[in-house]
Amino acid sequence: KQALNIVKLKKMKQEGQPITMITAYDYPSAKLAEEAGIDVLLIGDSLGNVVLGYDSTIPVTTEDIVYHTRAVARGAQHTFIVADLPFMTYHGGIDETLRTVRRIMQEGHAHAVKMEGGAEIADTVRAIVQAGVPVLGHIGLTPQSVNQIGGYRVQGKDERDARRLLADAKALEQAGVFGIVLELVTEEVAGAITSEIGVPTIGIGAGRKVDGQVLVFHDVLKYDPDYREKRFVKTYADIGSEIRKGIAAYVNEVKDRAFPAERHVFAAEEGVLESLYG
Ligand code: KIV
Ligand code: NA
Repeated sequence: KQALNIVKLKKMKQEGQPITMITAYDYPSAKLAEEAGIDVLLIGDSLGNVVLGYDSTIPVTTEDIVYHTRAVARGAQHTFIVADLPFMTYHGGIDETLRTVRRIMQEGHAHAVKMEGGAEIADTVRAIVQAGVPVLGHIGLTPQSVNQIGGYRVQGKDERDARRLLADAKALEQAGVFGIVLELVTEEVAGAITSEIGVPTIGIGAGRKVDGQVLVFHDVLKYDPDYREKRFVKTYADIGSEIRKGIAAYVNEVKDRAFPAERHVFAAEEGVLESLYG
């Protein structure tokens, strides 16, 4: 039923077919993205920023991810679905981590999970993969560590950083990830990682030399009242202003008594009105 899996994703890399990925958080966004032909859907913890109104991904809980993943899975029944493991849910004991993964897979109906981090989480990645759950890695700018990184900065500019990123990518591949998201990484370093590992790289702000691209739904469609330009994003629609315009038109028509019009109302049988007023 589901069109794509991790074996086909690897084949896409080998054949040089770009992989397309977008975030989704609910039934309509997932269904529309599937109809538009997306390869992979991500219930990102960007949910915290773009849907729940937090200013980082840190407050997002397992409960939030499970709830939104279920809605996405109902909307996109033929698409490969990946869900983020929330902040600090994979840094304690492996039992707790596996319980969280179980909920996201079994209650949320994801096909895979994504985790931020490099060599330091390799053992945890390995344990999840050994439990039969595909894991997507995520290195470069990792928003769950924003307080440690000290802001949303481009990664892989200098030699030391570049070497660390490549080593992290290799450690994750060794641990069994089926792919790696590269976020805000210089194009050169992202390209080198892509050619040095056998699994697909999916870039966001990581240039052109990667195996696929991922963007946040609300960025692609400008569905964000607080939208700020980002260099690595391209917006393909302006849904935010369409929504504002649509709702303003509705408000005005109600105020002006232009809505509802005759065609929107239901009429009773003849004589009913007289019987009501006696
Ligand atoms: O949460 C998210 O949307 C992500 C993507 C930006 C990769 O992790
Ligand atoms: Na994320």
